[in-house]
Amino acid sequence: MSFSMSAEASERLQKLKERYPDPKSTVMAALYLVQEEHEEITNEGVHWVSEQTGISPVHVMELVTFYTMYRRKKLGKYHVQVCRTLSCGLCGAKDLMSYLHERLHVEPGEITADGIFSYEYVECLGSCGTAPMCEINDTYFENLTPEKLKQLLDRIEREKPDLSLSTKRDAIGSGLTGEGYSKVLGDKPL
Ligand code: FES
Repeated sequence: MSFSMSAEASERLQKLKERYPDPKSTVMAALYLVQEEHEEITNEGVHWVSEQTGISPVHVMELVTFYTMYRRKKLGKYHVQVCRTLSCGLCGAKDLMSYLHERLHVEPGEITADGIFSYEYVECLGSCGTAPMCEINDTYFENLTPEKLKQLLDRIEREKPDLSLSTKRDAIGSGLTGEGYSKVLGDKPL
């Protein structure tokens, strides 16, 4: 299968390489670029990253399969990752998952018929003090209950916000700051 990346993506990666003494340091950014363009990281994408960074394909694949932020297959336009580690597990992650299952009528990792949602359990997302929480695309939503999650999904369906904050906005992975929440949904906390 042929695989290609746009000239723009290659240029962005090149600029990133200039920031580091070793191109290996850009591996995670390169994976994000592949994911942004293709919505998934296939074996061909892994090889492209390997060529770009000088890291062997097997080591690139180790990163892809270890971190849940990298997608090995296409998912819904909004992918909900529910943390199930200790704090979130104790504070109700299971109830959030039950709600998602009941509402979306698909199993974890599957996509709803309209292509809008998918969901899965993930391990600690580093926001344990505001458990239970989930990450939707690149944006955190915290102190959740099934009712708040319902309101959130209702709004996403209605407003179709851009919850991606990644390479196109300069700071790769900056969604982890939670900036997206205030930026996208304004001063309307749930
Ligand atoms: S336990 Fe859920 S964010 Fe850490």
